[in-house]
Amino acid sequence: MEQIANLYYAHIAELSRRVAEISQRENLAGLVIHSGQPHRQFLDDMNYPFKVNPQFKAWLPILDNPNCWIIANGIDKPRLVFYRPVDFWHKVNDVPEAFWTEHFDIKILSKADRVAEHLPQDLCGWAYIGEHLDVADVLEFTSRNPDGVMNYLHYHRADKTQYELACLRRANQIAVKGHKAAKNAFFNGATEFEIQQQYLSEIGQGENEVPYGNIVALNQNAAILHYTALEHVSPAQRLSFLIDAGANYHGYAADITRTYAFEKNRFCELISALNKQQLAIIETMKPGVKYPDLHLQTHDRIANLLIEFDIARGDSEGLVESGVTSAFFPHGLGHMLGLQVHDMGGYSHDERGTHIPAPEAHPFLRCTRTLAANQVLTIEPGIYFIDSLLNELSAQAKQLVNWQVVDELRPFGGIRIEDNVIVHADRNENMTRDCGLE
Ligand code: GLY
Ligand code: MN
Ligand code: MN
Repeated sequence: MEQIANLYYAHIAELSRRVAEISQRENLAGLVIHSGQPHRQFLDDMNYPFKVNPQFKAWLPILDNPNCWIIANGIDKPRLVFYRPVDFWHKVNDVPEAFWTEHFDIKILSKADRVAEHLPQDLCGWAYIGEHLDVADVLEFTSRNPDGVMNYLHYHRADKTQYELACLRRANQIAVKGHKAAKNAFFNGATEFEIQQQYLSEIGQGENEVPYGNIVALNQNAAILHYTALEHVSPAQRLSFLIDAGANYHGYAADITRTYAFEKNRFCELISALNKQQLAIIETMKPGVKYPDLHLQTHDRIANLLIEFDIARGDSEGLVESGVTSAFFPHGLGHMLGLQVHDMGGYSHDERGTHIPAPEAHPFLRCTRTLAANQVLTIEPGIYFIDSLLNELSAQAKQLVNWQVVDELRPFGGIRIEDNVIVHADRNENMTRDCGLE
């Protein structure tokens, strides 16, 4: 594992270069980036868990402190206005001392509404980047999240710095530890709730720290694509286990899925077969390849698996065209990954934000970009037994499905296998497998 601290200077130099370039192009003095504000729960005196502005955490790994600001023009040393109130009710963050602090001119803010004292005197020409437009109004910013800047930042987000790649490798390393613990818990008879607890305990992150709500699904629950309920009792019969769970490192996300069969059976063989296909798809990733083409090729691969396992009949082309593969594999092949699990910019064709939508027949595909070196993507094919989708097939398509085999496999729910991959100029790096997760 590289020394993350050693890579940080080049990271911040690249972010500064981007700010200088876009500020000049948009005729701006620079960017003022807000970490965010707490959100109050309705009719309550408590806040929702704080989620930091991703454009803020791009600069430094402060994830838990609202009312902070970064002022950057790409030329001067960036300023961090660090919120440190006098407060005996809540935890007050210490003045940071870390590998990144020497790269900032740090000012301490003790009252959130006094921030103007640390901002440029004339905010005219500076762009506010953040969620709270009411705050931007009070501060009299005239430019707020301007499209030209946002499109530029989102587009370039795909081109990860070496620091970001190192953080993503580390996030994978942490998540893989959790996945191994979760697998053991499953085979030892744990409930969904217990598996989740063991996962979180192994990675040392709380529910509000992980990058998304883990999917921990036994048996037929694996067919619910965004299943986040956690049953406290074990099913009468233990058949299968799907876990989609990540980890966070310095604000960067891992997003990993594995599926297991409790016993050796047809479902277990289907997992192995999909696993082979998943690795084969990753083999085909390289700069210049269009991500939607990988998605379409995956439909052919799924069609062949459906035929091989006698789940459907006919030829692969017919199964794709009639919508059969979409009923078994209804989501996209994957997405860009980074500061956000579904990183911004997946549809951006250029830095002006030209949008390439998902193909009409594949509306859930989250990335339409052409692959390039230093991009990070997930590859997550799946096969599920979802009655509502199978029931919607045309009468003709229904005849292509072997319902007896569907009946046999339905109680197992479904399969997804998801790895996190870096595209390099001359090879792919499967971070998830490199960390030792089969
Ligand atoms: N865990 C969310 C996803 O796989 O996209
Ligand atoms: Mn996932
Ligand atoms: Mn994913």
